[in-house]
Amino acid sequence: MQTPNQQAASRSVLVTGANSGMGRATALRFAAEGWHVVAVDVTESTHGVEQNLTSVVADITDEASLAAGVAQALDGKPRLAAVVNAAGIFPTSSLDSYDVALYRRIFDVNVLGTLNAARVGAKHIGADEGGAMVFFASVDAFAVSRNQLLYSASKAAVVAMTRSLAIELAESRITVNAIAPGWVDTEGTRRGGRIEAAIPSIPLKRAASVDEIATWAWNLAGNPSYITGETVCIAGGIFMR
Ligand SMILES: NC(=O)c1ccc[n+]([C@@H]2O[C@H](COP(=O)([O-])OP(=O)(O)OC[C@H]3O[C@@H](n4cnc5c(N)ncnc54)[C@H](O)[C@@H]3O)[C@@H](O)[C@H]2O)c1
Repeated sequence: MQTPNQQAASRSVLVTGANSGMGRATALRFAAEGWHVVAVDVTESTHGVEQNLTSVVADITDEASLAAGVAQALDGKPRLAAVVNAAGIFPTSSLDSYDVALYRRIFDVNVLGTLNAARVGAKHIGADEGGAMVFFASVDAFAVSRNQLLYSASKAAVVAMTRSLAIELAESRITVNAIAPGWVDTEGTRRGGRIEAAIPSIPLKRAASVDEIATWAWNLAGNPSYITGETVCIAGGIFMR
């Protein structure tokens, strides 16, 4: 019988958005747990060569190039058992400011990109042994914030796809869940410049760290159990369902 570490060493995880923020923290967490990580990002890798990690430069909106990059990265490596799709974008938008290009960009990355990561991943996760997927939604899928018109709609789509794909992939013994963070201290959030002003309104009076979120990605994707189709809000009490 294999020890837990031997079992981990025989598995790979696909993490998208792996160069920054929660995706990067998730990639590093799986690597620390002994998994081989296929770390996908549209930008050049920020990871060192010493980690148990294969970097792939690919855009998740382009299924063919994502599939080719992932297949190459998995060649000769442990079988794929998990997908964490953390890549996402969060530009502001409103009825006044949106245009077709912005609409397409947000929905292409956040919705089509999630679908592409799921389909590419599902092809590698064998039905015999099963696995798990975790998508990134947001509390904005449920709560209303100013200037998040298209972003919140795209993340509501992620919540809906999580339920649909949980049913579809159950027959392949793949669980599908989503994480809906509130405020998280990431490079992306800091670039937005709104995090400090938001903190007084958070009941726990702080943003989440990327490692706290990565722990939930690890729990749901690294140790799948009887939970599927759910979206877990991790938001310090700013939003409760
Ligand atoms: N930061 C927050 O407070 C917060 C809150 C709720 C939800 N989220 C969601 O969590 C996820 C991660 O957020 P973050 O703050 O860690 O992000 P981030 O901006 O720090 O990192 C996102 C990474 O995704 C990559 N990426 C973007 N578009 C891509 C594409 N088309 N193909 C491949 N890679 C791509 C970027 O290069 C970047 O490395 C996102 O889906 C975001 O919408 C974030």
